[in-house]
Amino acid sequence: MGLGGEMAGGAFSQTKTKPVYRATSTCAVEIPGPCGLVIFGASGDLTKRKILPSVYRLQKNRLLPEKFFILGTGRTEMSTDQFREEVLSAVKKAFPEDFDASSWNELADKLDYSPVHYEGPETYTQSLKEKLLQLEKRHQTGGNRIFYLAIPPTLYESVISNLGATGLSREEGGYTHVVIEKPFGRDLDSAKGLNRIVRNSFEEKQVYRIDHFLALETVQNILMLRFANSIFEPLWNRGYIDHVQITASETLGIEQRAGYYEEAGVIRDMFQNHMFQLLALTAMEPPVAFGAEPVRDEKVKVFNSIKPFPMDRLSDYVAIGQYGRGEIDQTPVVGYREEKGVSAKSVTPTFAAMKVLIDNWRWDGVPFYLRSGKRLSSRRTEISFHFRPVPHLMFSNTLNEPIEPNRLVLRVHPDEGMSLILQTKNPGSEVCLNPISMDFCYQRDVLMDAYEWVLLNCMHDDQLLFVREDGVEQIWSLLTPVIDRLESTTAADQFPNYAAGSSGPEKADLLIKRDGREWRPL
Ligand code: BG6
Repeated sequence: MGLGGEMAGGAFSQTKTKPVYRATSTCAVEIPGPCGLVIFGASGDLTKRKILPSVYRLQKNRLLPEKFFILGTGRTEMSTDQFREEVLSAVKKAFPEDFDASSWNELADKLDYSPVHYEGPETYTQSLKEKLLQLEKRHQTGGNRIFYLAIPPTLYESVISNLGATGLSREEGGYTHVVIEKPFGRDLDSAKGLNRIVRNSFEEKQVYRIDHFLALETVQNILMLRFANSIFEPLWNRGYIDHVQITASETLGIEQRAGYYEEAGVIRDMFQNHMFQLLALTAMEPPVAFGAEPVRDEKVKVFNSIKPFPMDRLSDYVAIGQYGRGEIDQTPVVGYREEKGVSAKSVTPTFAAMKVLIDNWRWDGVPFYLRSGKRLSSRRTEISFHFRPVPHLMFSNTLNEPIEPNRLVLRVHPDEGMSLILQTKNPGSEVCLNPISMDFCYQRDVLMDAYEWVLLNCMHDDQLLFVREDGVEQIWSLLTPVIDRLESTTAADQFPNYAAGSSGPEKADLLIKRDGREWRPL
């Protein structure tokens, strides 16, 4: 990969400019071409916590194009100077010990703000369009635009439709991308409705639906592990794998998000997106090429092959829970129903475990057990492959206990890396077997944040890490009947059913024990 200075001019248009890379300590990152980033909801929480700190880090590591600007917009009336102050305090809060004034000054010059009334088309044509044209001229970005919707989903329709109606969604001088955060709908019908609205204004190739898990380095590595190593593929099937576990456990509660969480619950919040995306990357067939469409085609084939959950035996496949009081890190914490903004009789689940079966040649009969919850005993996201036991144990005369089958664990976070658990002989004359773990750990300081990847890939015109329309709808079609059934049958006296700081409800243990298996300890 070549190294060099910043890419000169050149929009998305037909002329292909040579990619420019910046070396990092372990690899090289391609620097995107010129572009303007318009953030709707510029004074909101997501912008301050995730988007702006990521932009700052990209600037600090010199991974942004020189010809670049950010236009913040939203209902709040403020000047560009006030916006810069807000951004500065967000960046300082995110990196209290790692603030670099010269990087900040470079970024500050690229920031601008203009208020907008989301509902009215006038401000889109007047203030927004005019401002954009001015900024594009000043920063010579050549017409490449990204509209980032960091706003509540209730505003998506107005903003997307207005961008369409005022012609701002069109690709004229360069590319125009729209970035949409989760939740993408709250059930199948609303997701289809939102997709229709998006389609009226944008083509699918312009749409970037975020699932930040897909942008985590360790999640991106699943494809490399599977398809850049020949040793795994022969084992990656029902012949060798007994079952797979996917866990995303959090110690955090719902923080200040009661309003959102009460409406969502864990299945919409974590399963509809992150958990099923991890499942797809784990289970999919080898794509013909490393590109957005071939990879997303294979993921959708996985979703299409998942057996619908049997409604008459749902409790054999899905267990839900809600946390009560307990302790996290030896500190007492309140139960979900006592959190600010949560109903005292809430039946919103904060934990779910699912058994998912995939009806295809590779995975027939191999259960995928998924679990995710808030206020559990540890923070951990991982995928573990549990291999079948050896077919014949030749040590059975000398060993008293059965030996543990091999396991491969992909740690998404924390301690990003992977472990392969093997049996070895302990030194000595007796047969003493000992499971050992071969570990690989990522060097933490080289990992880029998921939002840095999201922004870079969107500037690169690369949808690989984003979710496609058909994928979203397919997952909703699997989960909507489950959510509907649970919402109509869960009684208030069933919750709380696990203590904060525990490993979840007993029902989740039963779900896997019934099959003669166990969850990996948290
Ligand atoms: C978000 C969910 O998508 O993912 C949150 O809305 C959850 O509820 C979060 O806490 C987990 O992601 P991360 O990267 O913080 O582990």
